[in-house]
Amino acid sequence: MATQAKPDLTSAAPAHGARHVAIIMDGNGRWAKKRLLPRIAGHRAGVEAVRRVARAAQDMGLECLTLYAFSSENWKRPATEVSDLMGLLRHFIQSDIDEFHANGVRLRVIGNYKALEPGLVDLIESAMARTAANTGPVIAIALNYGAQDEMVRAAQRLAQRVASGELSAENIGIEAIDAELYTADLPPLDLLIRTSGEQRLSNFMLWQAAYAELYFTDMLWPDFDGRALAQALDAFRMRDRRFGGL
Ligand code: FPP
Repeated sequence: MATQAKPDLTSAAPAHGARHVAIIMDGNGRWAKKRLLPRIAGHRAGVEAVRRVARAAQDMGLECLTLYAFSSENWKRPATEVSDLMGLLRHFIQSDIDEFHANGVRLRVIGNYKALEPGLVDLIESAMARTAANTGPVIAIALNYGAQDEMVRAAQRLAQRVASGELSAENIGIEAIDAELYTADLPPLDLLIRTSGEQRLSNFMLWQAAYAELYFTDMLWPDFDGRALAQALDAFRMRDRRFGGL
């Protein structure tokens, strides 16, 4: 009797249908304030939420989870808070990279991370290089990221290619711009979540969000977890995405 090929359930698309989810992790400061704690305590609890949600994203079959950790505008915060956040990021990469690697996760950092302190740049680059050949989901951390900066950078690169004769201006289309963004090799953005009740994009993935579904929750980021992510994905599943069609 001929043996029947078994369906490969590991590669079956998850029921929620989302490939790429991005999160604006907001509300760490308010979470700490409610508890009469310093802001750093909110950011520390925010790192715990990052761990929970990164694990949940892997379990839920997402191909990519992008987290807005530090914007190009966050330099306006007091120097001590900036330094606390950089310390947490450094510690997070150092302590969690083994688990990511063991789970086949590819760690990516998007944004102008090269402008950060050299030791942190080295750490980021070695973590990305170590996990680059993995075949599991991508966890992308947006660091010193600004969507307008990203688009300016793409425009400059395209202008350079036109100036060198490699590209003609008429051939600049959506795909050419897409290819110059930090997210060029990531799946299209399906769902953009913002916590803490604020309803704005704050210079995050403005181009990529063109047809993403937006989901706002009052929950503060340190309270967010796998269940909250599952709720957002349930809401996403119910949306009628038409991409401008009928
Ligand atoms: C917004 O809350 C949060 C941030 C600007 C930083 C997000 C950083 C983390 C969650 C920790 C580090 C990240 C990783 C990936 C390890 P807020 O401080 O603006 O809160 P508020 O609006 O209540 O003051």
